[in-house]
Amino acid sequence: MPLQTTTNIWHNGQLIRWEKAQIHVMSHVIHYGSSVFEGIRCYTQGDGAGVFRLREHMQRLIDSAKIYRMPIPYTVDQLCDAVVEVVEANGVAPCYIRPIAFRGYGEIGVNPLKSPVEIYIANFPWGKYVQGDEGADVCISSWNRLAPNTMPSLAKAGANYMNSQLIRMEADINGYVEGVALDTNGYLSEGSGENLFLVRGGTIYTSPLANSVLNGITRDSILTLARQMGIPIVEQALPRELLYICDEAFFTGTAAEVTHLRSVDRILIADGSIGPITSKLHKAFFDIVNGLALDKYNWLTPVKVREAVAV
Ligand SMILES: Cc1ncc(COP(=O)(O)O)c(C=O)c1O
Repeated sequence: MPLQTTTNIWHNGQLIRWEKAQIHVMSHVIHYGSSVFEGIRCYTQGDGAGVFRLREHMQRLIDSAKIYRMPIPYTVDQLCDAVVEVVEANGVAPCYIRPIAFRGYGEIGVNPLKSPVEIYIANFPWGKYVQGDEGADVCISSWNRLAPNTMPSLAKAGANYMNSQLIRMEADINGYVEGVALDTNGYLSEGSGENLFLVRGGTIYTSPLANSVLNGITRDSILTLARQMGIPIVEQALPRELLYICDEAFFTGTAAEVTHLRSVDRILIADGSIGPITSKLHKAFFDIVNGLALDKYNWLTPVKVREAVAV
């Protein structure tokens, strides 16, 4: 997907021009992957626009940085204000927002502690991520998700996405839209950039955080909506083959939103169409983000964007 530029990027407290947001090739992050980041969507609701679960995303950025001993000299509130500032300055909605903190230019060598932390926030128009309105055809990846005690899954770190890239490239080359990775014990983990849900016998199943998954904010939103609907939820280690015999399966994520799976390893899930529980959750999610239902959980932070740009 080609990147569509905007005008401003927030850098360490101020707005700079998009083309000025550059770093030196000897920056620590380029050599050792020392970054943590977020992906956030801003949706439009009628005449207005709102950023989805902004506080939770900025808290996760701070948590990711804490795990990697990366000092962030801003509070959650200040980072939320910075997101609002850059989105309003660029005047683009709906859009995708990318805050990133990384170790910049300072020292060479693995130890990051003496390299400065740089924080940038960009936003840009971005459309559908997982292709296939008819449902996604996915495979089980030959790559495992990150083993515990190697790379912490609860940190959304740039380096984790080398593993995601292997999963995604393999899927793509073999004619699938996405890969589902198992954890190192062979249990279902997640997609290269999405959490995974199954439905069987009216119960929703998803892998717990201990199965090497990111603590997805869309995952949490779907669990909240499902609880409100009274749908039973089980978070437990899930065997791979449950995916072949479930009634429904779907991905959640900021990029993927709620995307139903049509098949796994060319085995059709039920008749391949979106199932009733996925459909209900999909509708409830999109009704909130599109402003068609009351935002009862205060998930949207309003932004004043004069010019809405269709994606
Ligand atoms: C590996 C991985 N898992 C899950 C998710 C879903 O998380 P969220 O819903 O917070 O976007 C993402 C997306 O950020 C991801 O990259």
